[in-house]
Amino acid sequence: MQTNPVLLVHGGAWAIPDDMLEAHEQGVFDALQAGYSLLERGASAIDAVEAAVARMEDDGTFDAGRGSFLTRDGRVQLDALLMDGATLRAGGVACVERLRNPIKAARLVMDRSPHVYFVGAGAEEFAQSQGMKLIDNSELVTERERERLAAAQAKERAGMPDLTFAGDDKSRETAVDVDAPGFESHDTVGAVALDTQGRIAAGTSTGGTLNKAPGRVGDSSLIGCGCYADNASAAVSLTGWGEPIMKLVLGKWATDRVQQGVSPEQAAPEAIAYLYRRLGGHGGIILLGPDGRYGIAHNTPRMAWGVCTSDGPRTGVQLRQ
Ligand code: GLY
Repeated sequence: MQTNPVLLVHGGAWAIPDDMLEAHEQGVFDALQAGYSLLERGASAIDAVEAAVARMEDDGTFDAGRGSFLTRDGRVQLDALLMDGATLRAGGVACVERLRNPIKAARLVMDRSPHVYFVGAGAEEFAQSQGMKLIDNSELVTERERERLAAAQAKERAGMPDLTFAGDDKSRETAVDVDAPGFESHDTVGAVALDTQGRIAAGTSTGGTLNKAPGRVGDSSLIGCGCYADNASAAVSLTGWGEPIMKLVLGKWATDRVQQGVSPEQAAPEAIAYLYRRLGGHGGIILLGPDGRYGIAHNTPRMAWGVCTSDGPRTGVQLRQ
C-alpha cells in the first residue's frame, strides 16, 4: 500500500529579526521543494531528508554549512546526523571544518561505514575517502558571522550577561528575555520525512552555538538528542540550546511519547514544555509519526518551519499558539 508522503523542515528557533524573516521563510520553502520533489517521485525518506537539509546547509541564512556561527577562535565547526527509521541505521559527524555539506558526510557514514559516528579529522578523512571534496574553512565563514562573533566577544569583555548561554542554568534564567530583539539563539536546521513506502527518517545539521569552544559538540548530531527516527515510534529533529536538550535526551523522549500513544501534535509541545520545566531550555521541534500525523512546537519568539503534504507546501516563522 502506498502512503502519502510528508516532509517537515525547520530552520532554527529564536528571535528571528524582522529583516531576516523573508530569507528564513524562503530557505525553508526551498528545502521543502528539494525534499518533496524526491518523495513525489518515490524516493526514500532518507534521500528526501538529506536533500532538504543539504539545501539549508547551502543557504547562508542558517546556522548550518556556510554562514554558521563561529567558534570563539573564528572558525566554522559543523555537526550533523541522519537516521533511517525503517532500519535504525544512522550516520553522524561532528567538529568537521572542511566539508561544505556535513549531512552528506553523515549519509556516507551511514551507508558505507561499519561505524555510526566520526569526529574531526577522522570524519573529514573518511568523507574524502568516499569522494567528498575537502574545502578551506574560510569558504564557510561569512562577514555577517565575523561581525556577530566580534559583537558577542565585545559583550563578553564588557561583562554583560551572555544571553546565548541562557536556558541551561537556573541561576541565569532570570536574565533571559526571549522577547528581546537581540536574543541569540539557534538557526540549526532539520528535516523529518515519510515516504510512499511508509518509511520515516530524520536529519539535523548545525554550526552549533555562537562563540563556542572549539571541540564542543551539541545535541544536533547525537542520536536521541537533537535527532532520532524509528518506524516503531516517530521521527524528530530539534533546534535550540543543545546542552539542556542533550541532558534530557529530548528527541527520544518525544518519540517515546508517540510510542506510548500520544499524538505527535500533542507530544511536540509537551517536549518543549518539559525542556523548559526541567532546565529552563528554549528551542523548537518537528515530530512526525509513520501514520503521517505531525507536530511542530517552539517556545522561542519565532521558529522557521515548513511542511509539505499532498495538499501542498506551507511555511511560517511563528506558530499560532
Ligand atoms: N542545537 C544546536 C547546538 O546546540 O549545537
